[in-house]
Amino acid sequence: MALLIKNGRIVTATDDYVADILCDEGKIAAIGHDLTAPAGDEVFDATGQFVFPGFIDPHVHIYMEFMGTFAKDDYDSASRAALVGGTTTLIEMCCPSRQEDPLEAFDLWMSKAEGISSCDYTFHMGVTRFDDTTEAKLRTIVDRGITSFKVFLAYKDFFGVNDTELFRTLKLAKELGVVVTAHCENETLIAERQQLLLAEGKTGPEWHEPSRPVQVEAEGVHHLMSFAEATGASVYVVHTSNQPAIEAAMAARARGVDVMLETVIPYLTLDNTYAEQGDFEGAKFVMSPPIRSREHQDYLWNALASGVVSTVATDHAPFDFSAQKEMGRGDFTKIPNGLPSIEDRVNLLYTYGVKRGRIDLHRFVDAASTQAAKRFGLFPRKGTIALGADADLVVYDPTYQGHITVANQQMAADYNPHEGWEIEGRPSLVTVRGEVQVRDGVFEGEAGRGEFLARTLPSTIH
Ligand code: URP
Ligand code: ZN
Ligand code: ZN
Ligand code: ZN
Repeated sequence: MALLIKNGRIVTATDDYVADILCDEGKIAAIGHDLTAPAGDEVFDATGQFVFPGFIDPHVHIYMEFMGTFAKDDYDSASRAALVGGTTTLIEMCCPSRQEDPLEAFDLWMSKAEGISSCDYTFHMGVTRFDDTTEAKLRTIVDRGITSFKVFLAYKDFFGVNDTELFRTLKLAKELGVVVTAHCENETLIAERQQLLLAEGKTGPEWHEPSRPVQVEAEGVHHLMSFAEATGASVYVVHTSNQPAIEAAMAARARGVDVMLETVIPYLTLDNTYAEQGDFEGAKFVMSPPIRSREHQDYLWNALASGVVSTVATDHAPFDFSAQKEMGRGDFTKIPNGLPSIEDRVNLLYTYGVKRGRIDLHRFVDAASTQAAKRFGLFPRKGTIALGADADLVVYDPTYQGHITVANQQMAADYNPHEGWEIEGRPSLVTVRGEVQVRDGVFEGEAGRGEFLARTLPSTIH
């Protein structure tokens, strides 16, 4: 079945024009005027609507054992949520504990997605230990199509690597041409500050941010930059939340370090006062690095508008308020860290970014799709609208007005951190490789048709 999308306003990171798009055999087969579809095929009238390339979320957690519990979604719920919100490709963090074998972990994470995900997916391979056996295993995983790693400079004894392991990971990545994504916070500073606060009886969720202030993150970024400079590796700092952290990366970029920065939708919308709400309500907003003040949020929007921050992801890491966040009542260091937002990223970025005049349409597409595709070896198959690209398309209705609510969400968590927030736009049609997966906010496609995206290293593209 072909699909013809007529008269949409096609907006990519660089282009803006009105045309028809013919999707056939999973690909964009034609772009032009007055195109016709073969008899019997669907024609969708997109007059007055945008057509964007399918959005890419380059930082999500779906299968994750963390802080004594498991993240709430599985691939069925997470991929439906992603698609309803216009995200057609996910890059999940494959995060084994330090005790797990990397190859077994990679197979396990693949098994959670294969035949279950309704959108396309790939992984960043978490390197949570680097011993004498690790290098050969990582080479095998790279050969299987994973061209990015993930390291944590926080979460001591669970995901966190020491400096020797960090150096060896970056050195191998440099040799192979792999990009290393990194969670940057100084874990010693966090541990010491947590103990001081708890000893003073400061146990509520409002103390999470003060336990890991902006300098703790900036130190982590600076630390990674020193190691990237020493090894020459290409790095990508995930979930950047504040000005000093960005400045640490920019200083390194000026010295020649190949660093790209990500921020996440909670930092662009919420602020530190949310975690200060009483009745333990603040636990809903505990994530790491923490959600910062409005001043840092304004800085992030400007950094995003200017391209200093390249991408907007979610860091989707959903935990129920009722049973899971509850584990940290009386001790904020035990609140599972993370927020659900995979479903709402695009609509929030459009409403509070584009509609409020903070970023333009091109930067919106670039930050939510194209930059991730380029950095992680998916471009131009994903991340743009061009002949021969995968027909992952989002027809977007800019006249839609609605509210975010847990009552309507696909995400499995029992709350939504953006409950009641207005959205001024939403996808009216979402396709994955030419097949309609979502219509007017409802998943109506074929469950489980998502594909694993094997990626190729730049050096092996002929
Ligand atoms: O609080 C967060 N961000 N939870 C998920 C794990 C991580 O650090 O990305
Ligand atoms: Zn992280
Ligand atoms: Zn350091
Ligand atoms: Zn994360």
